Amino acid sequence: MSFKTVLVAGASRGVGLAVAEHLVDRTDRLVAVSRTAAPVGEWLQADLANLAGVETVAHAIADEPLDALLYMGGTWETDAFTTQ
Ligand SMILES: NC(=O)c1ccc[n+]([C@@H]2O[C@H](COP(=O)([O-])OP(=O)(O)OC[C@H]3O[C@@H](n4cnc5c(N)ncnc54)[C@H](OP(=O)(O)O)[C@@H]3O)[C@@H](O)[C@H]2O)c1
Repeated sequence: MSFKTVLVAGASRGVGLAVAEHLVDRTDRLVAVSRTAAPVGEWLQADLANLAGVETVAHAIADEPLDALLYMGGTWETDAFTTQ
């Protein structure tokens, strides 16, 4: 399976980077979104925690149809499931 355009949010490391690396050779345009540099695809610097970052992504994609949008960004809190 191959794709024309895929957007991976959270592609600078972790799960998102692994997914982006898996897809990049199967995708004409892989847009890799994160605050710090993503070493794969077409890096788009954006902080998705604020509106300006979301608008940056919307502007970059514009009217181009996405084959897939993979939202892998976020934080991993190791104590999320423990009681204090
Ligand atoms: N790892 C696991 O075992 C696991 C299990 C279940 C669920 N999850 C969830 O899956 C998500 C990713 O986990 P991970 O282990 O891959 O985490 P990670 O290694 O910390 O990677 C997080 C990714 O999200 C990006 N990111 C964080 N805040 C951002 C923001 N405001 N704007 C844009 N990008 C942002 C980071 O890039 P920058 O810092 O460069 O912006 C990075 O690329 C998290 O939500 C986590 O809770 C993880």
